[in-house]
Amino acid sequence: MERIGIEALSTGFMAILMVVALYVGAGAAATEIKPVSFIFGDSLSDVGNNNHLPRSLAKSNYPWYGIDFGNGLPTGRYTNGRTICDIVAEKTGLPIPAAVLDPSTDDNTVLKRGLNYASGGAGILNETGYLFIQRLCLWKQIEMFRDTKMTIANKIGHDKAEKFINGSIYLMSIGSNDYINNYLLPVQADSWQYAPDDFINYLLSTLRHQLTTLHQLGVRKLVFTGLGPLGCIPLQRVLTSDGSCQQNLNEYAVKFNAATKNLVTDLSSKLPAASFVFADGYTFFTKLIENPQAYGFDNGDTPCCSFGRYRPTLSCVAAAKLCPDRTKYLFWDEYHPSDAANLMIAQGLVDALKHSTGSSPHSPAPSPFPSPSPSPS
Ligand SMILES: *[C@@H]1O[C@H](CO)[C@@H](O)[C@H](O)[C@H]1NC(C)=O
Ligand SMILES: *[C@@H]1O[C@H](CO)[C@@H](O)[C@H](O)[C@H]1NC(C)=O
Repeated sequence: MERIGIEALSTGFMAILMVVALYVGAGAAATEIKPVSFIFGDSLSDVGNNNHLPRSLAKSNYPWYGIDFGNGLPTGRYTNGRTICDIVAEKTGLPIPAAVLDPSTDDNTVLKRGLNYASGGAGILNETGYLFIQRLCLWKQIEMFRDTKMTIANKIGHDKAEKFINGSIYLMSIGSNDYINNYLLPVQADSWQYAPDDFINYLLSTLRHQLTTLHQLGVRKLVFTGLGPLGCIPLQRVLTSDGSCQQNLNEYAVKFNAATKNLVTDLSSKLPAASFVFADGYTFFTKLIENPQAYGFDNGDTPCCSFGRYRPTLSCVAAAKLCPDRTKYLFWDEYHPSDAANLMIAQGLVDALKHSTGSSPHSPAPSPFPSPSPSPS
């Protein structure tokens, strides 16, 4: 789970989405190659890649995942319905990028829809999530993107491929597993080799190298989404005696976010033509968790799909029980937000996009998120 959503969209990010939305909306000539999006990340953005990793233990290809998506069968998404990226794509008119490991994905799919490299269990660090045996770590995702670019260049020619890569937008949302499935696990060497601040430095120097590599490959418009309040996901709350959030984990997320924001801003100012933007996933999601009723939810602390008192050992599997109303729960399972929560986060983002139309470039960015509705009672 993790870094979710996007608060305080910078005008830069809105500009990026605007350009793409306008371009798509205007309907470029049929021969023109339209911009698409490419997704890097973990289970919050995976749309089925891990289904094709035979030995991976990080999978969501069983009921009740996907119960509110299409025909209700599991898709490989780690939620009951859509991911945040799915909803943003729907609302901006961008196609939903295809899972890179889906065997039906070919060169034409890439040009029409873009690709999604996200993989459940993945982290910035290669060693993150090794308990899952197989996942596409961020370096691997970047290598696959380099292969994608070469394939496209072979198909449409070098110049056109450069333009296609240069004009597309890139969403990256990663880092939660570097904590939850690495630093916080005593079986992982990183947990005892690094003090918290040294670990952030290690993450950040790796991420700097990774973003710079993407820039060398031609990436120009990139949005990096920071971490959500890790200490408030149901899994972490159920481990405290009174079900409250684990503040030390939230502090890791706050520090990570501050450091990645600096990194992204720094790279954006130094790398030629780069428009790299940090999006804060922490603030709005914390508001939702602290006062779910104000936003139309009944429950902000336990998963909709779970084994009740056998939590968290037995999680969301086929024999689990579902909550009576899936639209009223912020969390779908121990880690991941529900479709309803993802919708609210994505909707806020798209509203910000609409509100920004026609506003002067110097006017302050409108608040991207819905205000709380009056409490029903
Ligand atoms: C991380 O993994 C990538 C590919 O999966 C590999 O090319 C790279 O050498 C690895 N880096 C380290 C530091 O192990
Ligand atoms: C690449 O994108 C930048 C802005 O993101 C633009 O200024 C530049 O003209 C583009 N270059 C090509 C070759 O399309």
